[in-house]
Amino acid sequence: MPLNHCQACQQPLRCAPQFTIQTFDVKLDKSFQQAVLAYYQEHGRKHLPWQQSKSPYRVWVSEIMLQQTQVATVIPYYEKFMQRFATIESLAHASVDEVLSYWSGLGYYSRARNLHQCAKTIVEQFDGAWPSTVAGLESLPGIGRSTAGAILSLSMQQPAAILDGNVKRVLCRVFAINGWPGSAKVLKQLWELSERLTPEKNTDQYNQAMMDLGATVCTRSKPTCNTCPLKSLCNAQALGAQKEYPFSKPKKEKPTKHVWMPIIVEKNQILLEKRPPTGIWGGLWSLPEFDSKQSLQFAFEGQTLQWHKPFKHTFSHYHLMIQAVEVNSNPNTVAIMDSNARQWHHLTTTENLGLPAPIEKLLKPLRATL
Ligand code: ADE
Repeated sequence: MPLNHCQACQQPLRCAPQFTIQTFDVKLDKSFQQAVLAYYQEHGRKHLPWQQSKSPYRVWVSEIMLQQTQVATVIPYYEKFMQRFATIESLAHASVDEVLSYWSGLGYYSRARNLHQCAKTIVEQFDGAWPSTVAGLESLPGIGRSTAGAILSLSMQQPAAILDGNVKRVLCRVFAINGWPGSAKVLKQLWELSERLTPEKNTDQYNQAMMDLGATVCTRSKPTCNTCPLKSLCNAQALGAQKEYPFSKPKKEKPTKHVWMPIIVEKNQILLEKRPPTGIWGGLWSLPEFDSKQSLQFAFEGQTLQWHKPFKHTFSHYHLMIQAVEVNSNPNTVAIMDSNARQWHHLTTTENLGLPAPIEKLLKPLRATL
């Protein structure tokens, strides 16, 4: 079945985004590989500094520098680093402070510490020889599965798969992967795809082309699909939904908190409470607060309470349901409400106090009655 038809309903891909291609299709895989390899011949990057005099050491340093960092930023750092640390032995024998000084400005400094530690391990424990399997490389500090695949394929001609951020984006779009790539389920699916699609031959060219495609054509916010070699195979493009893929991290539901606030007015004065200096509305005047309806009712027992309709105010991390209530005050009320943090304010002056927006919303109609 052509890629742009749903496997479940046989219709053109209108039923997405419930749809994900998972079936094994040898012909499709071959077309995919051929398109990527042809792209490498014509447009793949072949003159980057780490692509000259290739060795596991030179490729490894570049891969670590390129994590979370763009090629153009890395190049000058890479060249200076290689001038100073031309071999893994020179890196292993240097002090970590000197290594860090060559990393200064690249950020994510744990990468440099791991790099140094990894060089020491290879020199001191492996006699300077690089492991030649994914598992062997992954056991070293700072080397994950994708970096291991890059070192093996780019410097040792091994058919190892990679899955960096760029490759994830290409695969998520072409296969319209529904789900956040950071989740274990989607990540597993992406690794399966990457392993399946990675060719046995010319793996270095294929991997380089996939990284280049992600970095230059299938970009995050402005993909140039018209120039993409995978255009005719791409489900996101068929759906006109390139921007939807990869799915972003699901936002956590904000919790809802509740608060009960008495509005106590006596001779045009309102009782306000100064909020603690830290936390929400830090240091602002607000209404007194109760954390349950019962505790408020208990505090104002025997008095007439006029309940407002509750309303929601949203903060960055939670919603606050505010239930205000007008209390017909008497001298007892004042005694109950006595506290250093509480003060009577004339309603007209509250306008200049800089009240929190929802409190201002509650007091405005009261001022209008003066
Ligand atoms: N990002 C990670 N590895 C890369 C490479 N070899 N070329 C370009 N970008 C990369």
